[in-house]
Amino acid sequence: MIPQSVLAEIDAGQPRAVEELAEFLRIPSVSTDSRHAPDVLRAAQWVVRRLETLGFQARLHETRKHPVVSGFRVRDPSLPTLLIYGHYDVQPPDPLDEWVSPPFSPTIRGGFVYARGATDNKGQCLTYLKAAEAVLRIDGRMPVNLKVLIEGEEEIGSPSLARFFEEHSEDLRADAVAVSDGSQFASGIPAITYGLRGLSYFQVDVHGPRFDLHSGSFGGVVANPVQVLAEMLARLKKPDGTVAVPGFYDDVAELEPWEREEMASLPFHEAELREYLGVDLLVGEPGYTPMERKCARPTLDVNGIWGGFSGEGAKTIIPARAGAKVSMRLVPNQRAAAIDHLFETFIRSLAPPGVQVNITSIHGNDPVLISRDEPGVQAAAGALDIGFGKRPVFIREGGSIPIVTLFKESLGLRNILLLGWGSPDDGAHSPNERFSLDDFHRGIRSAAALFYELPAALRA
Ligand code: BES
Ligand code: MN
Repeated sequence: MIPQSVLAEIDAGQPRAVEELAEFLRIPSVSTDSRHAPDVLRAAQWVVRRLETLGFQARLHETRKHPVVSGFRVRDPSLPTLLIYGHYDVQPPDPLDEWVSPPFSPTIRGGFVYARGATDNKGQCLTYLKAAEAVLRIDGRMPVNLKVLIEGEEEIGSPSLARFFEEHSEDLRADAVAVSDGSQFASGIPAITYGLRGLSYFQVDVHGPRFDLHSGSFGGVVANPVQVLAEMLARLKKPDGTVAVPGFYDDVAELEPWEREEMASLPFHEAELREYLGVDLLVGEPGYTPMERKCARPTLDVNGIWGGFSGEGAKTIIPARAGAKVSMRLVPNQRAAAIDHLFETFIRSLAPPGVQVNITSIHGNDPVLISRDEPGVQAAAGALDIGFGKRPVFIREGGSIPIVTLFKESLGLRNILLLGWGSPDDGAHSPNERFSLDDFHRGIRSAAALFYELPAALRA
């Protein structure tokens, strides 16, 4: 059990923890934007320094893109080892003019810190370091060996990690891994996540005439790339909202009755979600509840589309090209590689003559389900009970954390603990992303509790 004195130390250290989080959040570590590469590096260095202060052996590993940070604090090889995973990179902050306060000037309003990366994932990730700090200060030694892996490419699909795992599998050996990169079921209802969706992500480019044309002089004789793209995209889904890519559903594992019942019993309120999203209707695949559709059924979405004229007033052209980003969320037992193939084949079949269509695969990762029966999961439930004052519910999340599949398949880890401290309305990837300071605090308490619960559960 975690000593009360450690929890008291965490409580007392909270103002300092918030200051440190603000410092971390001021670094604009946007991984997808190469202009921010120096900032991404600075964030990695910040994490290294933070780990070193805590007595970790920390290292910054260069990769082909952004560095991976590792840290080791192995006290006694006979103790269980917990690996902690997080990411210090963030999503781009745009649209900038929708932020109430600038995305990289963390600002506290109404008990929340507002900044890009506040919940995803700097705030959640920092909880483990603050927890370790409190334990070391009060107890003097860790009840568990700690290994830390904090990367800078999560938001671009973790392209360097497979190689990193191959090269460092021995160093990364652990009895359990903790990942706090999702959220509670709802604010105040802690959760353990046992499923994540996979992802298959594409760019589709349509090329028509060599340059933008006068639509008066040439309208009527060439295919219009924007029109062509719109028609192709429209055919990716059927009117009922299902995905029209042939074979898309072939490998989808149907939900079991017990799981549907469990999902239905979660306190989910459709009206509240509509209100939060600002839409008057939830839409999607017939025959499934919104809960089921957003975490256990596959989907297809257009993430963005461009082409032609969108300035003020009228410009009469036939655009030379158009493009779109399209992604599919995958569920067990779909495989990203197989879906990639089906999608490419289908898009090609939709491409009409008179234009050139280029399809580029940008990212793929497989969906994952995690066993709920491992002793580490019990330890995690106990830790959440201590940190949040409530037993967690079990949920599947609709997002993807590409590395989790690697933990399961490359490192053979069974105790994979997905514990989100954030809340679904934190606005990850949206303008005005935020993290509740209470959740930050409860996260630190839970992380510290996990350091004590885990060795007890694994030894039992
Ligand atoms: N923190 C999210 C993953 C997540 C989202 C977990 C929602 C649970 C619920 C993570 O940072 C993320 O955004 N992942 C990307 C992965 C992609 C870029 C490969 C995602 O899901 O879009
Ligand atoms: Mn994210």
